[in-house]
Amino acid sequence: MKIAMVGSGYVGLVSGACFADFGHDVVCIDKDQSKIDRLHNGIMPIYEPGLDALVESNVKAGRLSFTTSLAEGIKDASAIFIAVGTPSRRGDGHADLSFVYAVAKEVGENLANDAVVVTKSTVPVGTGDEVERIIADTRTSHKVSVVSNPEFLREGAAIADFKRPDRIVIGAEDEFGREVMHEVYRPLFLNESPILFTSRRTSELIKYAANAFLATKITFINEMADLCEKVGADIQDVSRGIGMDNRIGPKFLHAGPGYGGSCFPKDTLALLKTAEDYDSPTRIVEAVVKVNDSRKRAMGRKVLDALGGADAARGKKVALLGLTFKPNTDDMRDSPSIAVAQTLHDAGVEVSAYDPEGMEQAKPMMPFVTMCENPYEAIEGADATVIVTEWDAFRALDLGKVKELAKSPVLVDLRNIYTPADVRAAGFEYSSVGRT
Ligand code: UGA
Repeated sequence: MKIAMVGSGYVGLVSGACFADFGHDVVCIDKDQSKIDRLHNGIMPIYEPGLDALVESNVKAGRLSFTTSLAEGIKDASAIFIAVGTPSRRGDGHADLSFVYAVAKEVGENLANDAVVVTKSTVPVGTGDEVERIIADTRTSHKVSVVSNPEFLREGAAIADFKRPDRIVIGAEDEFGREVMHEVYRPLFLNESPILFTSRRTSELIKYAANAFLATKITFINEMADLCEKVGADIQDVSRGIGMDNRIGPKFLHAGPGYGGSCFPKDTLALLKTAEDYDSPTRIVEAVVKVNDSRKRAMGRKVLDALGGADAARGKKVALLGLTFKPNTDDMRDSPSIAVAQTLHDAGVEVSAYDPEGMEQAKPMMPFVTMCENPYEAIEGADATVIVTEWDAFRALDLGKVKELAKSPVLVDLRNIYTPADVRAAGFEYSSVGRT
């Protein structure tokens, strides 16, 4: 089957490469000539483990190609995926759908055969209806079915998530749409990945409800962590204790500095906007957004506390280990490190940092931070070392070396990757999240 993927960003490229790996004939389309040129040369526009090898082998096998021409790319495609960005619109938090609608129009104007048009981008409820109207307005003579197929990929684990999904959600309004999508996902269906067919609007809402629920779960455990610190309980045991209940489940109960990334912050805001438009308030999600925002700044204050308070912190130096919103990505969007670094800078603290992949993206967001070649260079002369992102490289630091290089042996572990007793036994003042 031939598949066209319009938009070769994170979602489009991973999905396109994985579909090709399943044996489909895939063309990835993007308006950005330099991105397509780089892809032709095997250079990935994003950092995602395993993606370069997957792209290379499928290009070699002749199943994956790239073009800037939408008309050429969609020719003979049975399924045309729209995987362009839907950033938060400035001012009101609504998802900006202008790229999605522009693609829909261009698809309608250039269709040369019957096709299913699939929205893979995260789009608010009702977007599929509008895409359908836009394509109908182009007066194409070909049969078109507009389908919703949200993605549930996690950055850093996207290929595994795509190939072994918990479920595939497809929102289709007619048999043509359902049949083509069944064919698209047949290789996964054979692997017994469950496929849930729903109406288009339901599918669109499932995506937002899933991300809002996960954001809620994280925020809930983060507030429990704060309470643990006050009452002298241990958040990791609380997480285990509640996660063993099958109704709750153990995942996404890891307390930390607050969620970031390209999805949860943007999608929770967009859901709030939809709820407001339909006069159906989602107060829990409202609270989650507020709590998470203030948490990121609170983490900066936690570091100031470890330095002896805001007054004592002035003129001191802090090393931040990890800047990206989570490990195995170079993505800095809405990362807690931004608020932590800013809070420290505002308090007159000198900040150095090291991140295995994110420093290039981080630089313009925190121009006052000195970026270093490795964790130990960042730690040299520091009054406190802070683990902001749980990269594997920070899980087994040479604590003896840290102690030697740092001005003071103070470790603030915002991801709870060390055991308090071990670090204290190594002579450190240690604070973490939800543990005393
Ligand atoms: C998230 C969802 O997990 C994916 O299913 C979804 O497809 C994606 O958004 C999207 O909508 O495109 P992602 O943003 O890549 O994926 O990252 P997650 O692994 O979900 O982590 C998000 C944030 O939550 C990170 O800042 C992470 O550190 C934080 N987190 C996660 C916690 O603080 N605690 C946890 O227990 C889990």
